[in-house]
Amino acid sequence: SEFRRACEKVKQFMLGDNELKTIRDRLLENMRRGLDREGHKSAKVKMLPSFVTHLPDGRECGTFIALDLGGTNFRVLLIDINEEQIDMDSQIYRVPQECMTGTGEALFDHIAKCMSDFINRMGFADRNIACGFTFSFPCEQYAINSASLITWTKGFSASDVEGKDVVTLLTEAVARRGDITVEIVAVVNDTVGTLMSCAFEDHACQIGLIAGTGSNACYMEKQSNITKLDELQDIDGKMCINMEWGAFGDDGALDEWTTEYDRVLDANSVHPTKQRFEKMMAGMYIGEIVRLILLDMCKEGIVFTEDALEILETPESFGTHMVSQIVDNQPRHFAAVQNILACADIGAIRRDCEIVHMVCDAVSRRAAYMCAAGISAIAIKIHQNRPDEYLDITCGVDGSVYKKHPTFAKLLKVKTNELVGLGIFVNFRLSHDGSGKGAALVSAVSTR
Ligand code: BG6
Ligand code: GLC
Repeated sequence: SEFRRACEKVKQFMLGDNELKTIRDRLLENMRRGLDREGHKSAKVKMLPSFVTHLPDGRECGTFIALDLGGTNFRVLLIDINEEQIDMDSQIYRVPQECMTGTGEALFDHIAKCMSDFINRMGFADRNIACGFTFSFPCEQYAINSASLITWTKGFSASDVEGKDVVTLLTEAVARRGDITVEIVAVVNDTVGTLMSCAFEDHACQIGLIAGTGSNACYMEKQSNITKLDELQDIDGKMCINMEWGAFGDDGALDEWTTEYDRVLDANSVHPTKQRFEKMMAGMYIGEIVRLILLDMCKEGIVFTEDALEILETPESFGTHMVSQIVDNQPRHFAAVQNILACADIGAIRRDCEIVHMVCDAVSRRAAYMCAAGISAIAIKIHQNRPDEYLDITCGVDGSVYKKHPTFAKLLKVKTNELVGLGIFVNFRLSHDGSGKGAALVSAVSTR
């Protein structure tokens, strides 16, 4: 029957605990290599030092501008930190598609323009103000206030930015305008900003996770384990490592679990052959994977009628938000699923709805489990530093998939704790105010 044939196709997305443990262990091995003096040169998982060596301790203070670029929204914020209390205001600005994929100069001019607009609105135009920059892309850092972009990821591809210091590019764009005085004192990845912001409230927080448009994590690592660092800041101290785990699998490490749909998705993406782990679980791709599966099934006469082909052939016609809405319903309540599909102009009978539900559930579940394999690898890595003690840690999380998908957060939590083994427990904590707050906290430390 059609349903049976659909199950056959979906089966490859179901990962058992043994497979997840293999993925976990392979990532652990990649993490070690990425930190190693020799090994890091060929490592796909970059394990980037952030030069953030301490979690917030409540003594931070000051007034800062923060920029948050790389997620769904570009935000400019004003953050005032005083005696354990933080006041914020912010505005979301649009980043036009032409800026994301045009010239780097146009992109940074646009960011500077938004900054100037915001600073003027806040009445800070005549003040010299320090700025923390959350820049959610892989950067090589040599200090807290210098970060050169290694490669664009997600939907960005602006020219002449890769290999350059984004602090310099932004400082130059601000100087070209000449109407505001800001100094960029810190650049952080969104995972690092999220960790800092959550650690401000929860001192057990040692991991930062983004499950959003993209997927990535950071954690506090012992500096003595980061043997690729030229100069240790403090042999007994820690440093936050931005893993850039999205690139896990770019050397074939995930090929056994890569389906034909993952391969098509990769080939049609903005950055083919890159970010293979991310492409199996991030919000930018979940809906697309579902679309490719349904397209294949439709062609084979398993779901819908031929009328649906035209829509299913259109890239991005099946958004990740639709996957969330569909999973939020029980398969037996097929009328709700039918309505969601109708909004996308896809006509469906009961059996179609059940198949669509199964596909959405399987793709979502794989995403959550892959993420769980990743977090369990980090927890085990941290535990190895103090194997004789019970490890009870918190992972701070942000991102649209974590916040909006109906089952992702629960599946992630349960599966992570099944994969970590005895002596470890991982809590998850949603970041309520974004990574900009974390960028401001890091700025406060670096200007102290
Ligand atoms: C936001 C953070 O809340 O979440 C950003 O402030 C981060 O720094 C973003 O990039 C990630 O989620 P999404 O879904 O917008 O990519
Ligand atoms: C991509 C970026 C990474 C970021 C993540 C989440 O993976 O490369 O830097 O943290 O998306 O936004």
